[in-house]
Amino acid sequence: MRLEAEVNTAVTAAPANPYLDDFLAPVSTEVTATDLAVTGHIPDFLDGRYLRNGPNPVAEVDPATYHWFTGDGMVHGVALRGGRADWYRNRWVRTAGVRAALGEPAAAARNLRAGMQSLGANTNVLAHAGKTLALVEGGVANYELSDELDTVGACDFDGTLTGGYTAHPHRDPRTGELHAVSYSFARGRTVQYSVIDAHGHARRTVDIEVSGSPMMHDFSLTDKYVVIYDLPVTLDPMQMLPKKMPKWMRHPAQLVAQAVVGRVPVPGPIAALMNRNERSAYQLPYAWNPKYPARIGVMPRDTGGNGAAAVVRWFEIEPCYVYHPLNAYSEVRNSHEVLVLDVVRYERMFDRDRRGPGDTAPTLDRWTINLTTGAVTSERRDDRSQEFPRINETLLGSRHRFGYTVGIGGGFVDSGRSKMSSALYKHDYATGSSMIAPLDPELLIGEMSFVPRPAAGSVSLSEDDGILMGYGYHRGRDEGQLLLLDAQTCESVATVHLPQRVPMGFHGNWAPRD
Ligand SMILES: [Fe+2]
Repeated sequence: MRLEAEVNTAVTAAPANPYLDDFLAPVSTEVTATDLAVTGHIPDFLDGRYLRNGPNPVAEVDPATYHWFTGDGMVHGVALRGGRADWYRNRWVRTAGVRAALGEPAAAARNLRAGMQSLGANTNVLAHAGKTLALVEGGVANYELSDELDTVGACDFDGTLTGGYTAHPHRDPRTGELHAVSYSFARGRTVQYSVIDAHGHARRTVDIEVSGSPMMHDFSLTDKYVVIYDLPVTLDPMQMLPKKMPKWMRHPAQLVAQAVVGRVPVPGPIAALMNRNERSAYQLPYAWNPKYPARIGVMPRDTGGNGAAAVVRWFEIEPCYVYHPLNAYSEVRNSHEVLVLDVVRYERMFDRDRRGPGDTAPTLDRWTINLTTGAVTSERRDDRSQEFPRINETLLGSRHRFGYTVGIGGGFVDSGRSKMSSALYKHDYATGSSMIAPLDPELLIGEMSFVPRPAAGSVSLSEDDGILMGYGYHRGRDEGQLLLLDAQTCESVATVHLPQRVPMGFHGNWAPRD
């Protein structure tokens, strides 16, 4: 292995904040390493890059107020080809704030139409239409990266989609198009459903009315429906006000903020200007709102747009929060149309814990909505604490059998009182059973993406024939690793040994070579 940068994994903040500690502690160096050591055998069909994004503050932050979701984005990538691991790179996404903190010259031009500038694109990374995109939500600008993870610039899909996108688009396996639901306080009481075509341009947008200004992290896409989760985590306009303000201005400013922000649309350039400070804002202006109704909205995929109102059926549910659906599908049972929503669900969010999602432990739940009668039922499938659900996404929107989640204990789940632990669960919805991957007990893992084995000829593969891929941290070796597991047995196929620890981040994807 050849290493081109000195490795420095010093923790940059005191462990007074569980979102800056242990597996979540940021790294302070960008590294390029080639010809990486591999244990096991990397399958030959893996030709491309595994990419994963996550928050990694570039500068010193205040542990008392730092929110995990606000750290500057850092993408970690490993390129695989011909059974070899060609390179590892980690790069901060170059927002204006990151450039300033690193002492680099400002970008020649800023694209304020792409979204707000005050946070980094830190949540997801994927390849679409020949481009690598670092994604974030909430009206914040997304960024295009080069194949080697250098920042190209803010992304507005060639001017076809402005005001921010989402970290969780879903690719329709039949068309290759990206479907998304975007939220932003600047959109007033609406969220935007969009379809980005295979050329990387928005071909359709639909504004959907909601009850206020919710944080809408993800949505579900089925063969027929767009399903949105309008849940009681909403904008707290007080958090939008500047921290330093003359005393006499504070009360009128609060009244204006409460009356306007998140209630009426803010023109895009103004919203961008409100957030163009070069210093990153490390607090999150969203909080639990017990007065906000919890609802699931179901919209046929082809309604609304071009001036026509979206047709949405709303179903009330118990107050809760959902970041991530595992999958959703509809089917006919006894001549009733039934919608099945598998999700990771929290009882509360950002209520007592205002620095991250540690209020309550997330569980694997299922809502079943009878679209014929309107009845909604809720079911707990697994009460162990878990997150980061993934499936074989060639089945996205249709009935799945298997789902993969990461069990998380300690760390931020118990406010840092005990050391973090993790596990990989494989859920079998056909039998109702689950298995725990036989991983090295010293490994901590993050999200694992499913990469299907390519079909050979006309032989159809089973749903779980593929590789689970994601980063781990081996405590005993103090080493970052890219883990490749056989998705059928959850046993290790190969481990790529990385030159530095990779902090637990958010989401990653396999990006096959074009
Ligand atoms: Fe997410």
